[in-house]
Amino acid sequence: MKPAIMVTRAIFPEVLSRLEEYFEVDSNQDDIIFTPSELASRLKGKAGALATASARINAELLQQLPGLKMVASMAVGYDNIDVAACTAHGVMASNTPEVLNETTADFGWALLMATARRVTESEHWLRAGHWTKWRYDYFLGPDVHGSTLGIIGMGRIGQAIARRSMGFDMKVVYHNRSRLSAEQEAHANHAQYVSKEDLLRQSDHVVLVLPYSPASRHTIAEAELNLMKPTATLVNLARGGIVDDAALIAALRSKRIAAAGLDVFENEPKFNPDFLTLQNVVLTPHIASASEATRRAMANRAADNLIAGLTGGRPGDLLNP
Ligand code: DGY
Repeated sequence: MKPAIMVTRAIFPEVLSRLEEYFEVDSNQDDIIFTPSELASRLKGKAGALATASARINAELLQQLPGLKMVASMAVGYDNIDVAACTAHGVMASNTPEVLNETTADFGWALLMATARRVTESEHWLRAGHWTKWRYDYFLGPDVHGSTLGIIGMGRIGQAIARRSMGFDMKVVYHNRSRLSAEQEAHANHAQYVSKEDLLRQSDHVVLVLPYSPASRHTIAEAELNLMKPTATLVNLARGGIVDDAALIAALRSKRIAAAGLDVFENEPKFNPDFLTLQNVVLTPHIASASEATRRAMANRAADNLIAGLTGGRPGDLLNP
């Protein structure tokens, strides 16, 4: 008999068909957002789950699921998974690194450009019928080319963002848990390792791509925003909670910094409604990895991990130590 699995959210139909070759599949193609107790009851009796970053996989859930052997998440970030609890319950956990690096870096640039050059703000103004003449000072913003780019979190996505900055003749400074090798720094547009404080003081554009953990919560809060240039922009591609959203709203409102571009929010998909009252912020709904090809690659990579883990192999992206 095939092992039973649950696909916790809607997914590409061809990935579902692939999984059906190996497993009895219970899927949530209606894309209902389960409460933790609904998720637990749907996962009862299942050997595996293909989940997304919206599912909380923690000790409370795992202790209700003695038959569960593996959770394959379709995301690179895995702050929603308590890996230690998975290990303690004998549950394999996996993520989907690598396949989204370039697409996410592209989107980082889209947000940076839109934020600095006021793309969405000016489009909303145009659509609202305000455009009656050209003026020398409409929608002035900071330059991107020739400026200093600060990247906090210099993993694979951060390095891909840095590489793209070569075409813009930018200086790159970065802050990371550990310093890159000289060769990696050279490939990342000769990025210079600096303290977080120096990065915030020097950068014209700051991009956040670090993983979320209790230690990285509020990496950018009031004190950090106060170190930034008043002309600077901030882009958060990483996870909600890395920025203190209330402090950012205050900084944007008082023009303490020029603008922000946000793809992730504290408590998403709910977010602080005060963002909607500000013109100097670009808001997108957690879509940095959302190219057709990349989302398919992520889904297939999660499926590969699950198939490997539940058929006696070792998932390529196993997170348990
Ligand atoms: C990721 O892969 O971590 C993206 O943010 C999607 O959740």
